[in-house]
Amino acid sequence: MRAAIILAAGQGTRMKSAKPKVLHELLGKPMLRWVVEAARAGGAERIILVVGHGAAAVRDEFAPDEDVVFALQEQQLGTGDAVRAGLAALPEGIASVWVLCGDVPLLPASALDALAAAQQGAGLSVLTFETPPPHAYGRIVRSGDQVCAIVEAADASPEQLTIAECNSGTYCFSAEFLGAALPRLEGGNAQGELYLTDLVAIAAADGVGAVAVVAEDASLLAGVNDRAGLAALAQRAQAQINAAHMAAGVTFEDPASIWVDSGVCIGHDTVLEPGVRLRGETLIGSGCAIAQGVIISDSVVGDGVVIKPYSVLESARVEAGCIVGPFARLRPEAHLETGARVGNFVEIKKARLGAGAKANHLAYIGDAEVGAGANIGAGTITCNYDGAAKHRTEIGASSFIGSNTTLVAPVVVGEGAYVGAGSVITQEVPSGALGVGRGRQRNIEGWVERSAPKKDG
Ligand code: UD1
Ligand code: MG
Repeated sequence: MRAAIILAAGQGTRMKSAKPKVLHELLGKPMLRWVVEAARAGGAERIILVVGHGAAAVRDEFAPDEDVVFALQEQQLGTGDAVRAGLAALPEGIASVWVLCGDVPLLPASALDALAAAQQGAGLSVLTFETPPPHAYGRIVRSGDQVCAIVEAADASPEQLTIAECNSGTYCFSAEFLGAALPRLEGGNAQGELYLTDLVAIAAADGVGAVAVVAEDASLLAGVNDRAGLAALAQRAQAQINAAHMAAGVTFEDPASIWVDSGVCIGHDTVLEPGVRLRGETLIGSGCAIAQGVIISDSVVGDGVVIKPYSVLESARVEAGCIVGPFARLRPEAHLETGARVGNFVEIKKARLGAGAKANHLAYIGDAEVGAGANIGAGTITCNYDGAAKHRTEIGASSFIGSNTTLVAPVVVGEGAYVGAGSVITQEVPSGALGVGRGRQRNIEGWVERSAPKKDG
């Protein structure tokens, strides 16, 4: 059995933030959640999060039924002390323990396998990578295959500072060695902290051995210490996610400008134009065209949908073959059935547009049911709110709502009914009827000559 202890108690002073460092997000997901997911994917049977600075906020990030337990590090006395706090939550029967940093979010789960395999028969294994100095990582001091020490940059000699191999902050420990050696850690270093990294020298001195696993892709192992580091890693994650979608048959016209959150699925032959942003739990079908500047959050989009530039969709459902935008806004619970069309400057909220229904220009449809094939004229507004409560509007299938109609809810327009342009509809329009609710036009002959105001001069 293996457990993972994830260190997440530090303040992250260099972030200059009111929020704990590990809660800063990369592609819609806090850094710490990326690490927890890597631990899960690596097969950790117990995941212990060491919390301290901003502990309440970090705990709140996880649902009560999630498979994580928390250990409190009262004072942030260093990474060695943090693991000591985590060890208290370790169940019986654990043979080895991964120790991961909450600020190394792109750690691949495959690295955990490699570390566990390398640790067999040794006190610990550590994941290392090469990066040219100067840098702030702990230096790996080797003697052949064995690592004899990790020296923090602040404590390193000029000669040690030239070492390119550095500590990713990711380890696999024998649980027995960890439990026995942790109490032996001492401060007395440049930062006055208990360094977890000192366990390497203890393992070497005791002859239990510390081995290094050199990572293939160093760019995934950067620890986030400041905002610039966060932005760099977000770009790295973006490149990785985009590459996976492209490999699966999605066209990205300008990958560097397209941001797709890690929880998004996209069907093949969908084309994403520059500046598209797909967020949260979004699902996009195949053969869709998502134009420049479109932002879609937590929505489901069917096959062959066209979304024109600068449209914004949030918790919406768009079935196959719909055409949306440009400049359309679908708010939560907007539901467009097959082949429906929503054009420019149309806002839809908590409303269903039946198959083939159209609202092509300048409309607000909220709290409404619109039947299949209905045509909503330009400027139509459902007045769903009376100042106290929301009311529903029903618009029948194949009905025709003239331009600039105001539908005062609750109100029903029957199937196949017509509403005259400019109407204020406050009562039911029965199926097959024409509803007109406006002043009749009258022309006053000769009025201009007789009565129109005269211009000066
Ligand atoms: C640490 C390593 C360094 C390594 C680097 C990789 C030590 C002494 N140094 O340095 O060798 O190259 O990570 O990114 O381990 N934390 C706690 N409690 C504490 C202190 C830290 O939980 O008392 C947590 C932080 O929240 C963070 C992680 O431990 O998630 C690493 O701490 P940080 O202060 O960033 O260590 P580095 O200086 O980066
Ligand atoms: Mg760090």
